Amino acid sequence: MKKYFVIGNPINHSLSPKLHNHWFKQNNINAVYEKIKLEENEVKNFINKIRNQEINGCNVTVPFKKTVIPFLNKLSPEAEQTQSVNTICFNNGELVGHNTDIVGFQKAINKLNYNAKNKKILILGAGGVVPSIIFALNKMEVSQIILSNRTYKKAENLKLQFNKINIVNWGEIPEFDIIINATSLGLNNETIDIETSNIGHGKLFYDVIYNPAETNFLKNGKKLGNQTENGKFMFVYQAFEAFKLWHNIEPSVNNQILNLLNDD
Ligand code: ATR
Repeated sequence: MKKYFVIGNPINHSLSPKLHNHWFKQNNINAVYEKIKLEENEVKNFINKIRNQEINGCNVTVPFKKTVIPFLNKLSPEAEQTQSVNTICFNNGELVGHNTDIVGFQKAINKLNYNAKNKKILILGAGGVVPSIIFALNKMEVSQIILSNRTYKKAENLKLQFNKINIVNWGEIPEFDIIINATSLGLNNETIDIETSNIGHGKLFYDVIYNPAETNFLKNGKKLGNQTENGKFMFVYQAFEAFKLWHNIEPSVNNQILNLLNDD
């Protein structure tokens, strides 16, 4: 039986096992997918288990998307440019790191029939998933990306990687077409302390969080008359792309799959 994992810390919240195990069943694949919490000093050993084929592949989540890179042989161009790996494959004797968060985000926006071209984007947060979102937004040819993070230094570090982004102080809300919450604020029902009175309506509020399905950030956006979307499809599509890489099969994305994620 083949074995797949998602590694991270914390990892309890991850719904990846549910999704992949469902797709295994649906496609008659003899495999199992589990989540495992690792400490940083355990990552290398774990990756080596993929090299010796004890394990067949893994997904990587916060905070290890960069940590895994030195232990791999090769990166896809997207993983290379974002320095972020969320999927590891073993191909022709080589460990290859991919980044499927990028396509995940792109597909999630496409699904809204929203054309992001020439749109002005405000990103809140500078954590693990932000390089992938910036990369995807650049591919979508947005006109401007403005980033705001509580810890300014982390925003500055991202600017070293993506020199076209602009940084504003935490709490400052410039004009935008799309605002993206990429912070972890909302996971436990917290509210982001931003001044919303000047935001108005007709914008897109996007939250990377999908559990809870509607964060206070999205609730507030909706109240002001804006379109809102949570991170569910980004999550499903990053898993879809990982599944495709490992099994060469496009798994189903339908209401049954979405309901799987609602059960928790
Ligand atoms: P990591 O930073 O380890 O990659 P993450 O969950 O991907 O973890 O990112 C957490 C994000 O949420 C960061 O942008 C963090 O801001 P800091 O860089 O200042 O830590 C943001 N965040 C978490 N708690 C926050 C809070 N109470 N107020 C504002 N931003 C917060």
